[in-house]
Amino acid sequence: MINAKVQEAMNKQINAELYSAYLYLAMAAHLDDSNLSGMANWMKIQAQEEVAHAMKFYKHVVDRGGRVTLTTIETPPKEWKSILDVFESAYAHECHVSALIHGLVDLAQAEKDHAAVPLLQWFVSEQVEEEANASEILQKLKLIGESKNALFMLDRVLGERKAESE
Ligand SMILES: [Fe+2]
Ligand SMILES: [Fe+2]
Repeated sequence: MINAKVQEAMNKQINAELYSAYLYLAMAAHLDDSNLSGMANWMKIQAQEEVAHAMKFYKHVVDRGGRVTLTTIETPPKEWKSILDVFESAYAHECHVSALIHGLVDLAQAEKDHAAVPLLQWFVSEQVEEEANASEILQKLKLIGESKNALFMLDRVLGERKAESE
């Protein structure tokens, strides 16, 4: 049986992961509107991964005899100042999610909920990847500066990203 406090925190994390999906979908819409369909593709796949993250927590709660409860998902922003701002926001968001995951690890340890630890450790590693992926694109955009050619080249590269299940 899942620890009650851990269950509550995981339900909150399901909301946070679904908000992440919503945020990345909003970024995709902004990028599609800016005619950067490759970057929008990258964000759409990112959104799918966030739904998969939510479902990992969902499964864990259910598998342990807990109860998943869903709450309102916050409205994401609609506009960003620039393409750089989009990816700066994405990177900052991943850093924020990492902090949430670390908080969950602290809670599971404090509550001695050992069964939650392997799942949370997976998320700790996943967040290292998530931060690195967002940061890599952000650093490239900084190098690109005002070059439209380089921007479209990066757009093409990001358009090649495929969903992991494919
Ligand atoms: Fe996530
Ligand atoms: Fe993420």
